[in-house]
Amino acid sequence: MEKIVIEGKTKLKGEVTIGGAKNAAIAILPATILINGICTIDNIPEISDIKICCDILEKIGVKINRISKHTLQIDSRNITSVEAPLDLTSKFRASYYLTGALLGRCKHATVGMPGGCKLGARPMDQHIKAFEALGGEVEIEQGRIEVKAKKLQGNAIYLDVVSVGATINAMLTAVLADGVTTIENAAKEPHIVDLANFLNKMGANIIGAGTDRIKIQGVKELKKEGTYSVVPDQIEAGTFMLAAVATKGDITIRNCITKHLESVTAKIIEMGAEVEDFGDAIRVNCTKRPNKVNIKTLPYPGFPTDLQPQMGVAMAIANGTSIISESIWDSRFQYVEELNRMGAKITAQGKVAFFQGVDKLIGAPVYATDLRAGAALVIAGIAAEGTTQVYNIEYIDRGYEDIEGKFAKLGAKIQRVNE
Ligand code: EPZ
Repeated sequence: MEKIVIEGKTKLKGEVTIGGAKNAAIAILPATILINGICTIDNIPEISDIKICCDILEKIGVKINRISKHTLQIDSRNITSVEAPLDLTSKFRASYYLTGALLGRCKHATVGMPGGCKLGARPMDQHIKAFEALGGEVEIEQGRIEVKAKKLQGNAIYLDVVSVGATINAMLTAVLADGVTTIENAAKEPHIVDLANFLNKMGANIIGAGTDRIKIQGVKELKKEGTYSVVPDQIEAGTFMLAAVATKGDITIRNCITKHLESVTAKIIEMGAEVEDFGDAIRVNCTKRPNKVNIKTLPYPGFPTDLQPQMGVAMAIANGTSIISESIWDSRFQYVEELNRMGAKITAQGKVAFFQGVDKLIGAPVYATDLRAGAALVIAGIAAEGTTQVYNIEYIDRGYEDIEGKFAKLGAKIQRVNE
């Protein structure tokens, strides 16, 4: 079993370079199923969710040539199965994209119900609504979702909740359908825009991605070859921005799109840190104890739920009592108990948590409860006095490439240890 061991207390200083966005890459890779050809995708992060995604694609006939650490050549000419293996799909959430992509290409998909971080109820009703609106017949049996369509026909889809996954699945199903599909109340996250950019580069006709109305004119087929580079990961960038605040450090974050980070930047400034925005890089310099602040997580462009636990660490040591109101997931405060083991004073009641700032955190053995909670505990360990051991780091490896290496380059005394 691996764990991350950290000797605090370090003020992080220096530069870090951000990799490709996990949540864009794990949509773009299944999207290659729609291409009866070969494409090369660059800036793919080396994380375990990507590895599982590639394993599944290979099981259904996609050939993947690993050109370099971050570049894959993907040959989807020969899809041999419409059935994604249950044991692998249950390991990660974004396996639901295989349903939309296989349905779009083969008019038939059988995919295990998705796994992923346990953040509370993760229904798929909006995905199903989209499949059915476009002509799919859906059956859920024995942990599998099977969708078949005689023909896929464009339609108007109104999403009852703003859902990243349902928006992407609707896009994947609609790209090769007959006629026009509109998705109303669509999610606007940068990875939705990135998927649309990729598909459009490959010959799709999608307009409006990044707004709440996406229009897709179905095309007969996509191009047989192409190249694409995945957008930088705004959540990884935000994680380092908040690490600068929580450790009273000075970090310059390179290779990010600062426009995607506006909600985080605004809150960090409110906390009293200095922020310099260079467009494709951002510097966060925090010279004093952060001020208290309140946040409510919201779909993009609101404050992202995926940065809520990392912000929680900065609030835990802020001056005064801060409040987080989580509006996306029912169970995203599981990390609170772990931070309290380190001396934090946080009370969570349902989807609201109160962070009574303390002078310092003290190292302790702690357990990652999900991916972003894991990143938050690493930041807490760097900020805390003494030794912190972070367990369950397989959660962190799902979405952060070389997290210990990147923090070590910023001065953290951090290492991965195999027990
Ligand atoms: C994506 O999950 C991300 N995952 C999550 O990131 C992120 O937290 C989330 O979007 C919100 O930004 C991936 O991109 C793989 P949703 P997703 O559908 O698509 C409700 C991380 O740490 N809903 O936008 O599964 C749902 O219950 C991960 O990187 C329905 O009610 O999220 C939630 O309350 C964790 N019915 C809200 O919508 C549905 O059919 C938003 O969920 C679908 C969703």
